[in-house]
Amino acid sequence: MSYEKTDIETDHRAIDIRTHKSICLTRSAQTNLPLPGAHFINLFKLTMRATTMTIRALEKVPGSAVDFGAQIDNVDLEDLTNDEFSKIRDILYHQHIVVFKNQQGLSSKAQYELTKRFDPGADHYGHDNIIDGESTKLHGNFKPVVHQPQVQVKGNGFVESYEGLHNIQLLHPHHRNFHRDCISEDKEHEFTRFYRWHIDAALYDLYPPKVTTLMAVRVPKGRRQIVLYDDGSGETLDASLATTAFVSGNRMFEMLSPEDQQFVKTSSVEYAPHPHVWRGKARSFSNGLRLYSEGHELSESDLPSFDRAKIQILPMVWKNPVTRKLALQIHAPAVRRIHLQDGSVIDDLSRIRDIVYRLQRPAISPQYVYAHDWSEGDLVLFNNHGMLHTVVGTLQPDEIRLFRQCNLAASEPPEGP
Ligand SMILES: [Fe+2]
Repeated sequence: MSYEKTDIETDHRAIDIRTHKSICLTRSAQTNLPLPGAHFINLFKLTMRATTMTIRALEKVPGSAVDFGAQIDNVDLEDLTNDEFSKIRDILYHQHIVVFKNQQGLSSKAQYELTKRFDPGADHYGHDNIIDGESTKLHGNFKPVVHQPQVQVKGNGFVESYEGLHNIQLLHPHHRNFHRDCISEDKEHEFTRFYRWHIDAALYDLYPPKVTTLMAVRVPKGRRQIVLYDDGSGETLDASLATTAFVSGNRMFEMLSPEDQQFVKTSSVEYAPHPHVWRGKARSFSNGLRLYSEGHELSESDLPSFDRAKIQILPMVWKNPVTRKLALQIHAPAVRRIHLQDGSVIDDLSRIRDIVYRLQRPAISPQYVYAHDWSEGDLVLFNNHGMLHTVVGTLQPDEIRLFRQCNLAASEPPEGP
């Protein structure tokens, strides 16, 4: 493997991939290169076989403080060498989100294999679609690809045929079905909400998937929407229609006071059994980050059958396997208890949600949010152990969105601090 240096640095923002020893570039290497467009922060070529893998920082909007995200071009995801995969993995764990453009031709099998390569011991889709013989609320809108069931089809509108599925009716989540107080119908063309900030995870029996891959097959275009936080902050975010929004768990951790960092490093969260069923009737606050505590959670006797040994108690803070940095990773709507260092337990839901919200809220302010502007053929790979993300947008039935998602329940729990 050899590296061809063509690094170009256009402004003071330097991509974190500098920390990769094998591809570390210096200014002195490129003083006579042409200036790139403003969105190119860094670019280098990694020469392998007959192809050249290129990596650049994702374009950020003016005022953004987002410190993650890369785009990789010129790599054949159907036929990745071990060296190429190793480099992609390294970039993923430094950048948390990696975009591959023009992947329309990528097979579901290759998407699954790329996802599995991050965790070879994993094979089961990240959620159980069926509990006690019934489709779970969370996955009613997901359809498994017939020949590759770990890959799921989701989106919006009617699709005649795709990947062995026929007459698929898809429904983009609408905040009206989850938030307690909603945007009025006459305003929902222009305005929208973050639907629910989350980690992709069943949080019962199955460990949170290490990575998720998300492929845009069809993307509705033509308008943008303004995300309203409606949480008293007055904050808003301009975003492309039906974007997916991401924030960094490491940023969330780094923004905490030293006392709160100590608290989260020494505390764990216990998730409810079948947590997405448990909290299915609870309504969300308007920024999609917390639930109201109004007694709508199901009692244990009303839940599907469960095994106490499969309840998950996970650290609040997870360690990046490559950088060793810490990320605050709490799937807030599913938390049932907090376990403290001294062995005591907080089980008052309202108090739990106050605590978690206070810890998480600063890091979802607009300047920390990366809202991906989807193009057809985009394959987004993200670090599910280092990010929170959310569905965004309000779509009409004729705004067709067709996506393919894959994540695999991890073969081991996330590493604590
Ligand atoms: Fe998700």
